[in-house]
Amino acid sequence: MEYLIGIDIGTSGTKTVLFNKDGEVICSDSKDYPLYQPNNGWAEQDPGDWWGATVKTLNTVINKSGIDPKDIKGVGLSGQMHGLVLLDKNNQVIRRSIIWCDQRTDKECTEITQKVGKERLIEITANPALTGFTASKILWVRNNEPENYSLIRKILLPKDYIRFKLTGKFATEVSDASGMQLLDVPKRAWSQEVLDKLGIERDFLGEMYESPEITGEITKEVSEETGLSIGTPVVGGAGDNAAAAIGTGVCVDGKAFVTLGSSGVVFAHTDKLSIDPLGRVHTFCHAVPCSWHVMGVTQAAGLSLKWFKDNFCQSEIESAKLLGSDPYEIICGGASRSPIGSSKLIYLPYLMGERTPHLNPKARGVFFGLSAVHDKKDMIRSIMEGVSFSQRDSYEVLKGIGVNVSLLTACGGGSANPFWRQMIADTLGVSVNTAQSKEGPALGAAVLAGVGAGIYKSVPAACEAVVKVNEAICPNGTESSEYEKYYQIYKALYKSLEGQFEALGNL
Ligand code: XUL
Repeated sequence: MEYLIGIDIGTSGTKTVLFNKDGEVICSDSKDYPLYQPNNGWAEQDPGDWWGATVKTLNTVINKSGIDPKDIKGVGLSGQMHGLVLLDKNNQVIRRSIIWCDQRTDKECTEITQKVGKERLIEITANPALTGFTASKILWVRNNEPENYSLIRKILLPKDYIRFKLTGKFATEVSDASGMQLLDVPKRAWSQEVLDKLGIERDFLGEMYESPEITGEITKEVSEETGLSIGTPVVGGAGDNAAAAIGTGVCVDGKAFVTLGSSGVVFAHTDKLSIDPLGRVHTFCHAVPCSWHVMGVTQAAGLSLKWFKDNFCQSEIESAKLLGSDPYEIICGGASRSPIGSSKLIYLPYLMGERTPHLNPKARGVFFGLSAVHDKKDMIRSIMEGVSFSQRDSYEVLKGIGVNVSLLTACGGGSANPFWRQMIADTLGVSVNTAQSKEGPALGAAVLAGVGAGIYKSVPAACEAVVKVNEAICPNGTESSEYEKYYQIYKALYKSLEGQFEALGNL
């Protein structure tokens, strides 16, 4: 029998899954680690924690499954994107990693835009300068910690640090590298122009691969530490969103997924490079060679509902405890008794600022239209509707740049709720299904390993063999037209409030 391993280095923890070549889970293990927030808006993690979790979960999976490690034909890596890992001349980590959700680099984003030029930056890196991306984090270290900057010999992304530990190779792949803002996204290679303009040495960066290519093999030392066989190939893998796309079968034109996790993502495959000249959605290289993906991000999707639950739903949390059920089931069950439009209540989900389509860290959350008639169920429904409208905003930008979607696969915690899935189908006007496997990114990474190891002919052929989906739900025409009226007001609200968000932010 042939097996594959997918390792997903996430923000809350690392998950390692052993699959057979049909994509069935044989064994899995995960380990959590801390997130450090030394200042308001800062977010850091210790790369040593990621490595510790990788070793522990590999050991558990290999020992528990009882399989012969020689039957593991490949390892694929997926991970949180954008994080900055700095190594010195002895390959030691210089400082904690500054990760994707860290917001300290506003000034450096202005510096990047000035040095490269706004339009040229979007032409080359397919995105405007963003605080989450890696380049601004590198400049922040140079501007604020020159002594650390002078020690740098290598710059890696989170999953690529794990690759280095597993294989001794400094390498990355195009999907994750796209989020560094140093890649020429159309050419799928490092941009010497951006590197020169920003004064970053090319030698600091790893070799570039396509996602299914073999980048190195398990070393003798790692084999002793983890139980993996010496020489097991490690493929490029992918950033977490691209890996989740492969794990949900989004690998050909027309296919897309929508995530209702803490953040919300609308992600579409595209064979033709499509860049939003306004930078409202991210264009990145996809893990399918010669293709790209376009992705809109809602900062606070599930996070909006979690915020409301944690602050205002103590009785639902208590009831769920007594019933041994999920509090969200009770909370969302109540919301389904409120009518479309939540009795004329509209929620803007900007609790964490917003990426798509506004690119505005100063945007704030809003309940608009509150009246004495409203109760908790209306507020919850309006949150779910506001998040769905925000996904619609992302979807509209995708359509506007010529990316057409015929079917969306829903994933992330919120997608388990059929009421919310139907709402997404109705507000976006697209059919929505779900994948049978819940292992999105780890499965995607394992599939890429299987392509690299020659088990599958290509990424689309692998997805065809491995990804199974449940039946799709279709948009309901009458409800879609009803939602449309509220969506138009939702859109107008941001425009009316933009100046006030700025003024409030500046107080
Ligand atoms: C993508 C992004 C997140 C991280 C963490 O641009 O910031 O999805 O990859 O999951």
